[in-house]
Amino acid sequence: MHSMIGYKNNILWLVMFSTNAKVLSTLTLIDGQATRDRLINMLPTIAAGSTYICKGLREALKVLQNDDDKTIGDEIIFLTDGEATDNVRVFTGSNVALDFDYFSFTAGGKFYVVPDSEYSHKFVDVFSSTMFDGNSMTQPIQLESTGKEVAGWFNGTVTIDRTVGKKTTFTVTYETSAPTVRLQSPNGSVYDQRITSNIANTITLTVPGTAEPGDWKYTIFSEGTAAQAISLIAISQAAHEDVYPVTVTARMNQQTGDGTKPLLMLAEVTQHYNPVLGASVWATLESDKGQSIRLQLLDIGAGADSFKGDGTYSRYLTKLLQGKYSLKVRVEQKQTEVQLPPYRHSGALYIPGYIDDGEVKLNPPEPPVNLQPVDVGSFTRTVTGQSFVVKKDVSINFPPNKITDLIAKLQEDTVLLGWTAPGDDYDLGRVSGPTGSKV
Ligand SMILES: *[C@@H]1O[C@H](CO)[C@@H](O)[C@H](O)[C@H]1NC(C)=O
Ligand SMILES: *[C@@H]1O[C@H](CO)[C@@H](O)[C@H](O)[C@H]1NC(C)=O
Repeated sequence: MHSMIGYKNNILWLVMFSTNAKVLSTLTLIDGQATRDRLINMLPTIAAGSTYICKGLREALKVLQNDDDKTIGDEIIFLTDGEATDNVRVFTGSNVALDFDYFSFTAGGKFYVVPDSEYSHKFVDVFSSTMFDGNSMTQPIQLESTGKEVAGWFNGTVTIDRTVGKKTTFTVTYETSAPTVRLQSPNGSVYDQRITSNIANTITLTVPGTAEPGDWKYTIFSEGTAAQAISLIAISQAAHEDVYPVTVTARMNQQTGDGTKPLLMLAEVTQHYNPVLGASVWATLESDKGQSIRLQLLDIGAGADSFKGDGTYSRYLTKLLQGKYSLKVRVEQKQTEVQLPPYRHSGALYIPGYIDDGEVKLNPPEPPVNLQPVDVGSFTRTVTGQSFVVKKDVSINFPPNKITDLIAKLQEDTVLLGWTAPGDDYDLGRVSGPTGSKV
């Protein structure tokens, strides 16, 4: 099944394509649950036919012209499960022909691979990651995204920190039959404002007002002995107008790897433009060929990481198989206090504005230099970064990384040298040889 969706200012449209293209819905204002359900009902449920991408795109562009005769500034979410049947070539301004896979990179779009699985929450992950509008105060922030095969109970907690809490939703997606869901706030109140969609296999619980900070308990029960895939996604927004939420962005240093340069994963954990230190950051990579890797990203100023304590956590990938990889990062802070370093180390660049629909919009002003550390308490975040393509297997023994912390100390007539041994391949593995020496 292949479809295209456009969503902007609460206006949505749908086009599907296979051997031919068809408009399922022209520009439609989402004004309530009834409209949502009607649109969901229009979605095709069977995948069939070929993949004529050009036919689909042409139809989508026609729909986009319906409002103002133009397509400038409009957006397309393009979903496809296969290789193009037609010979797609995308021509940029300089008339360079490109493969469709790489079209999104050069056209300024984003590219995500959702690995084949029964977990529909992986699509929700991607959609919520594409909704960044340049303003962290109004951006949906994903606190949790988890799932598993369940027969019986699926219990857990989601921490709502002090920087988020508005428009909080807990969405449960299931594979076969609706489970029972119970949500309890930190003070013991049970929340039961729910929207159930049997068509989309989702149950969404919403918290009115600002959600109380602390641990929210969810208990999900799936009846029957057969296990089904169940997932939970918690999304919220900034709680207060004067407190910036902790946000995370995840990315690769390159969108395609051919084995000549090591691939680097990066996650920036910031509160506004201030780095958040001491967080536990783990990346999960999954390829369309079934490979799965889980690695910790570090902010230690050694190995892949350029600066210690800049809130940018990173890790090299030196061994990968050919394929398209998805990148998901989970950040967790269990301490009660977030450490903020002196201002000079703000790793994130202040960007004064951005362009939306051809209009220049200004970001909030740059923070004053004397920022006091803000205690946000424990928090969790999950983000999906853009996917990347590994063109051929990567397995290179990169040289050991440079030593960044050599210390020499004079003790009577001996010089003591100390350093941290970087890994054999940049920062993976251990270097051969001693880790400290005496001259
Ligand atoms: C999950 O929570 C429910 C309700 O509190 C409890 O009855 C059940 O034993 C829990 N199950 C597990 C596996 O923790
Ligand atoms: C728990 O907090 C909610 C929201 O702040 C409040 O409405 C409710 O009365 C509280 N319940 C208890 C038992 O304190």
